[in-house]
Amino acid sequence: MIHDGPAIHEKARVDLDTCAIGDGTFIWQFASVIRGAKLGQRCTIAANAIVDGAELGDSCLVGHAASIHPGTLIGEDVFIGPGAIICNDMWPRTSKEGFEADQLGSRPTVKIDNGASICAGAIVLPGVTIGMDAMVAAGVVCDRSVPPGHIMRRDGSVEPMPADGGIPRRMRWAP
Ligand SMILES: CC(C)(COP(=O)(O)OP(=O)(O)OC[C@H]1O[C@@H](n2cnc3c(N)ncnc32)[C@H](O)[C@@H]1OP(=O)(O)O)[C@@H](O)C(=O)NCCC(=O)NCCS
Repeated sequence: MIHDGPAIHEKARVDLDTCAIGDGTFIWQFASVIRGAKLGQRCTIAANAIVDGAELGDSCLVGHAASIHPGTLIGEDVFIGPGAIICNDMWPRTSKEGFEADQLGSRPTVKIDNGASICAGAIVLPGVTIGMDAMVAAGVVCDRSVPPGHIMRRDGSVEPMPADGGIPRRMRWAP
C-alpha cells in the first residue's frame, strides 16, 4: 500500500493527479483508475478492474476485470460483478471522430442508481438506466433500462424483484 486514506495496491495504476478517491476505498493489484474517475468512500475495486473516467458513489464494489468507462454515473452501494462491462459507445470504431469522451461526464451514457447490482459478466449498452435496487442477471446483454426494484433475467425479461429478494427460496450461495 502506498498511502493512508484510500488503500492503493502498489501494482495498481491510479492517476492521482486527475482522479478523486474517497477514504476507505481499496484498489487492488492491476486495477486501473484513470482519466478523472471519481470514487466515493469505502469502495472496493478488485484486481484487473478498470474505472476510466466514470463516477461512483460510496460503498460500491467493482469485481475483478469489470470495466467501466467515461459517461458512466454510478450511485452508492452498487455491485458491479466480475467481468461486467459498462459500454459507452454504441457504434464503436477505432476513429474517435464525433465521440468526445471528455463531454460524457455531463451527459451520462449509462446511469446505475443506488443499491443496484450488475451481475457477473453482464454487458450494459449505452443509453441505459438501471434503477435503484434493480438487478441485471449474470451474462445478460442489457439493452434497455431496468426500473427501480426490477430484475432483468437471463432471457432479457424485466419484472419486479421477488418480494423476498429471491434469497430465502434458494440458498444465496447455490441454486
Ligand atoms: C439474478 C439471478 C439471481 C436470478 O437467479 P434465478 O432466479 O435462479 O434465475 P431464473 O429464475 O431467471 O432462472 C432459473 C434457471 O436459470 C439458471 N440461471 C439462473 N441465472 C442464470 C443466468 N444468469 N444465466 C444462465 N442461467 C441462469 C438457473 O440455474 C435455473 O436453471 P434451471 O431452470 O435449469 O434450474 C441470477 O440470474 C444471477 O445472475 N445471479 C448472479 C450471480 C453473480 O453474478 N454473482 C456475483 C459474482 S459471484
